[in-house]
Amino acid sequence: MEIFEGIVALKNKLEEIKKTGKTIGFVPTMGALHEGHCSLVRRSKQETDITVVSIFVNPTQFNDKNDLKNYPRTLEKDSAMLHSLGTDIVFAPSEQEMYPEPCTEVWNFGMLEKVMEGALRPGHFNGVAIIVKKFFDIVMPHKAYFGLKDFQQVTIIKELVRQLNYKITIVECPIVRESDGLAMSSRNALLSPEERLHAVNISKALYQANNEAGSLSVKELENKVIDTINNDPFLTVDYFQIVDNVVLQPVKNWAEPTTKVGCVAVKLGKVRLIDNIVFSV
Ligand code: PAJ
Repeated sequence: MEIFEGIVALKNKLEEIKKTGKTIGFVPTMGALHEGHCSLVRRSKQETDITVVSIFVNPTQFNDKNDLKNYPRTLEKDSAMLHSLGTDIVFAPSEQEMYPEPCTEVWNFGMLEKVMEGALRPGHFNGVAIIVKKFFDIVMPHKAYFGLKDFQQVTIIKELVRQLNYKITIVECPIVRESDGLAMSSRNALLSPEERLHAVNISKALYQANNEAGSLSVKELENKVIDTINNDPFLTVDYFQIVDNVVLQPVKNWAEPTTKVGCVAVKLGKVRLIDNIVFSV
């Protein structure tokens, strides 16, 4: 496994590799790696010849300074994990390397960014688009791997690739969960043991909602999930919304011919977690 900090050296290496006709798989991350990230790396290893993983806590996508400051950084542990998975190349640039000057690029994702995370975290997806485009331009992978845990993010990335006409296949990977159902997240490491016990009630409420979908109206079910989660004094719902899986607009009734996804954001003390469930109705 080779670790690169500089863009030019990485580009030279990848140019050599591409000359031999090998395919490149790319997994962008912000580090503090867990099984969710590992599943993306494994999938890339299965489907492409060379797997490149980036580790970069991207400041432009953090709308909350404290969230950026507190975000877990565990580069040595991450490198060991990636090595054991058989990762070929790690790209771990500095902030100066990725942003030698402030970036003023503005993206427009229309309706996709006006709901949920986009509505509550101003500038978040613009920052994600800026850094992912930079990475795509450097790595120019054949395939790039994203987790469905960040459902809205995958949708935005697909739109980014569409707008840019890039020949990159976006591979959507299922959510990996802890044994009790909590969606894995780097931010789980920031939970106190007590908060961690309560965090399970997020996925529990989503599973319960899936069982009740169809018997309650969409609005009734949304309210029920919000009440159930808010009933836990450790948890505060930012939003729970049932949306279609293509344009992410609110679903009004179960009969609509779309795949429906229930997306939730919840605060536990200083930590904010997101999760979602694809309804089987
Ligand atoms: P990060 O939160 O580190 O996530 C990196 C990738 O891992 C994302 O595609 C995310 O959806 C996926 N992932 C995280 N938890 C997962 C889980 N439990 N199951 C499956 N996949 C999971 O998302 C980002 O970083 C950043 O926004 C990034 C795309 C790297 C741009 O900075």
